[in-house]
Amino acid sequence: MSDQQVLGEEQPSFHADDYEKKWIGVSIVLLVAFAVTVAVAGFALGFQVPGDESRVDPRTVADSGPFSQPGLRDLGGGEYDAYILSQQYLFTPREIRVPAGSTVNFYITSIDVQHGFKLQDTNINMQIVPGQVSKLTATFDDPGEYPYICHEYCGIAHAAMFGSLIVEAGGGS
Ligand code: CUA
Repeated sequence: MSDQQVLGEEQPSFHADDYEKKWIGVSIVLLVAFAVTVAVAGFALGFQVPGDESRVDPRTVADSGPFSQPGLRDLGGGEYDAYILSQQYLFTPREIRVPAGSTVNFYITSIDVQHGFKLQDTNINMQIVPGQVSKLTATFDDPGEYPYICHEYCGIAHAAMFGSLIVEAGGGS
C-alpha cells in the first residue's frame, strides 16, 4: 500500500547552531554599523541626496527658462547657480569657472536619456533623469580643476561625456 508516514504534530522550535548564531550576531552588528554610517554621513559630513527640484518637460526644457541658456548665474555674495543641460553626449556648458570660496548650486536635467553627473573630489554625484531637475550644492575653497563626468551608461559615446569646473585662485571675497 502506501509508504507515506503520518507526521506527528511537532511544536515548532528555534534551533540554531553556534555558527548560525554567530552570523546572526554579525548581521545585527552590520545593520547597526550601516545605520550609524548613514547618520554620520547625512548629519555630520553633510552628504546630501539630490533633490527632485522640479519637474520639466524634456522636449521643451531647452526652449525657454533657465535651461535655454545653460551656464552660471552670479547670485552675489560668492553664491552661484549653475544650470547644466545633459544630452548624448555632451554637458552644456562644458566648462564652468568660479572664484575660490564660491558656493555653487547645480541644477541639471537631461533632454534625452538618463545620464549621471559626478564631480571629482566633492560629494556631488547624482543621476540625471529626463523630466526632472536634480539639484545639489557644494562650496569650493580649494583652487583647481574639478572634472565632471557622466557615470550612467547613455550610449556609444558615453565615455566622451565630461566637462570641468575650474576654481580660480585669488578670487576670494
Ligand atoms: Cu551621458 Cu553617459
